[in-house]
Amino acid sequence: MSDIELLRSRAEAELVRARARTTLLTDSIDDAALVAQHSPLMSPLVWDLAHIGNQEELWLVRDVGGREPLRSDIDSLYDAFQHPRASRPALPLLGPQEARGYVGTVRDKVWDVLGRSSFGGRRLEEFGFAFGMIAQHEQQHDETMLATHQLRRGRPVLDAPASPRAARPPQADEAIVPGGPFLMGTDAEPWALDNERPQHRVDVPAFAIETAPVTNRRYLEFIADGGYHREELWSTRGWAHRLAEGLVAPQFWERDGDAWWRRRFGALEPIAESEPVVHVCWFEAQAFARWAGKRLPTEAEWEKAARYDPSGRSRRHPWGDEDPDATRANLGQRHLGPAEVGAYPDGASALGVHQMIGDVWEWCSSGFEPYPGFAAFPYREYSEVFFGGDYRVLRGGSFGTDEVVARSTFRNWDHPIRRQIFAGFRLARDLTPDEI
Ligand SMILES: [Fe+2]
Repeated sequence: MSDIELLRSRAEAELVRARARTTLLTDSIDDAALVAQHSPLMSPLVWDLAHIGNQEELWLVRDVGGREPLRSDIDSLYDAFQHPRASRPALPLLGPQEARGYVGTVRDKVWDVLGRSSFGGRRLEEFGFAFGMIAQHEQQHDETMLATHQLRRGRPVLDAPASPRAARPPQADEAIVPGGPFLMGTDAEPWALDNERPQHRVDVPAFAIETAPVTNRRYLEFIADGGYHREELWSTRGWAHRLAEGLVAPQFWERDGDAWWRRRFGALEPIAESEPVVHVCWFEAQAFARWAGKRLPTEAEWEKAARYDPSGRSRRHPWGDEDPDATRANLGQRHLGPAEVGAYPDGASALGVHQMIGDVWEWCSSGFEPYPGFAAFPYREYSEVFFGGDYRVLRGGSFGTDEVVARSTFRNWDHPIRRQIFAGFRLARDLTPDEI
């Protein structure tokens, strides 16, 4: 195959895969549940569906393809910046059948545009970037829709094989990441988004990082040790938030006597102690870290631990340069939850750090800021307008993140109080003088 044919088939495969997931998430519930708002934090699923189609129309049909608009009358309804999530149910949205018809018609046009594209000329089209951006956009909304499914009350409708058990747990609790310069971000990934660029040198002093995300077992110890009731463990803002919201455990946990249970996609289950904790906010992660005598990693530390290679270059992924697959990371809604610590020994980093990609997003201590030399592309609203806001960075992707998104350079961000996302954390610490 020529390079153009390869790009075309990759773009096609990613778009098809994203649509299969969107269809699963929207066909698995009835129309009433599609148009309902299951939480003020989320859009009705039918909004996400038509928004996916509208972004695809804007970028691939109109911009790349230069075609006439199909439905310019609905552009503003599906502009995320014009309508906050809480207000979306009140909009005159397309109904389920209309939305399905719309996204299908857009996709038919996209196949025609893709068939004619030579992936050159404009930066938007080079290496199929626009197609990759839209496939990633759909997959990111699919993860958001999966979080909406988690918030929905009612019987379970999603099904997947249980996540794998521990095959070979990490050999040590911590890994020491050597100090020195590190190449962060990327220039080489053709579908990397603007905020991952450019690659730049960062000096990261030596530090220790835990080889696994914090598990439910340790989180239960934190709860049992009064973690939610000891103000000294919390930041001022975190404590105020903990009191105002009455936080006593991760979201979706329920207490039954001495035992804790969790509700997951409609099913009540015992807490799986060896799995990473999920559905905790940044303030909870911070309080846990103080309780454990450690801290959250900075974003640069997280990426260095993930991409470190003894040769001095930065790997694409913890295990090397190969794309993720089912043996290396828990991604893509293949399972409906994180896997036990030790379930992916083949995905460990050069330093023996496990499960950095997949399972749970990991809160970092850092705010969301541009890299030196950042340039907004292809539009300011993707990243630039969020820089410097009250956000914390999340890294590594979750079981609900697709592999087309889960690059080791991919940056996610959210408010420090958010818990409906599939977020956990791992701990780091400074080295002692002896260790240095
Ligand atoms: Fe979007």
